[in-house]
Amino acid sequence: MYGSLQPDERFADLEDPLNEIPDDTPVEVEQALQESHIKETLAQLDHDLVALYEVKRRIREVASLLVIDRLRRLIGLEAEAPTLHMVFTGNPGTGKTTVATMMGKILFRLGYVRKGHLVSVTRDDLVGQYIGHTAPKTREVIKRAMGGVLFIDEAYSIYRLDNERDYGQEAVEMLLQVMENERQDIVVVMAGYKKQMDRFFSDVPGLSSRIAHHIDFPDYSVEELMDIARLMTDQQRYRFSPDGEKAFQEYLAARRTQTRFANGRSVRNGLDRARMRQAIRLYDAAERGRHLTKKDLVTLEAEDIMGSRVFEGGAYAGVPEMPDTQ
Ligand SMILES: Nc1ncnc2c1ncn2[C@@H]1O[C@H](COP(=O)(O)OP(=O)(O)OP(=O)(O)O)[C@@H](O)[C@H]1O
Ligand SMILES: [Mg+2]
Repeated sequence: MYGSLQPDERFADLEDPLNEIPDDTPVEVEQALQESHIKETLAQLDHDLVALYEVKRRIREVASLLVIDRLRRLIGLEAEAPTLHMVFTGNPGTGKTTVATMMGKILFRLGYVRKGHLVSVTRDDLVGQYIGHTAPKTREVIKRAMGGVLFIDEAYSIYRLDNERDYGQEAVEMLLQVMENERQDIVVVMAGYKKQMDRFFSDVPGLSSRIAHHIDFPDYSVEELMDIARLMTDQQRYRFSPDGEKAFQEYLAARRTQTRFANGRSVRNGLDRARMRQAIRLYDAAERGRHLTKKDLVTLEAEDIMGSRVFEGGAYAGVPEMPDTQ
């Protein structure tokens, strides 16, 4: 734990480190910062995540806490590991799973967890159908997640207060115990939609007191969705033509007001469909003997987007948009 910087042995046997370690003992901030690569990690987070200012601020806070905690340990100021269990609330596609994955990496770099991997589960992975099934299932999940982040999606569905015979309660009790006793080696992140999560917290006593951070993921504006789209096209080596960009913006503005809109996921799906239409357009053109260039291959044109059923008059106008589920 806590990387390769070793605690200073001069201070190992002190009975009261707070008073006996000289106040002017220097701390090696630079080395700790360099070894944890925390600056680069936070810069990458800024680049890879559009908006989510509050989320980024909270992650920075957690990172600072862990850096300082590490410096304190180095000069012999032991303290209990801080509790880092979190709850992420927000609508579909607002980035909860993405941020949980990044959080695992950050906690690993800062030496808080040994491995930094993410184990993502839902109710079915934890709760069994029959008596005696739940404990082994939950135990196995916890075992896999040790040293990393246990991400529980739609956590509120684990526990059904209105059904006495439900085995969810057993899973919740085991989780509460691990959150308390193993908190130096596992971070539990529970995610879900706000209303249901609030209810879950009021139904399960002792849960909210074990959660250190509650982070809300707001819906994105059209401009933010467009920034997400640009990030994704960059990553996939595509670009919009000027008209294509305008069309995609209109697409997002329309899609945003429709049912089953899923923020970032709808952007990804919209782009996937545009790529499909572009491919068909290019294939047809090639078949007609047109010579293609790199520019053709990387450019998404307005017509690749306007064919969407989101638009009146699009190829599938009137047919409901496919749900943007995972
Ligand atoms: N702020 C953002 N910047 C860049 N990409 C984003 C952002 N938010 C979401 N995305 C992208 O949107 C997609 C959906 O995000 P993610 O799966 O993290 O959402 P979620 O909140 O977990 O959704 P659900 O509640 O449905 O599970 C991913 O491809 C992700 O990369
Ligand atoms: Mg998710």
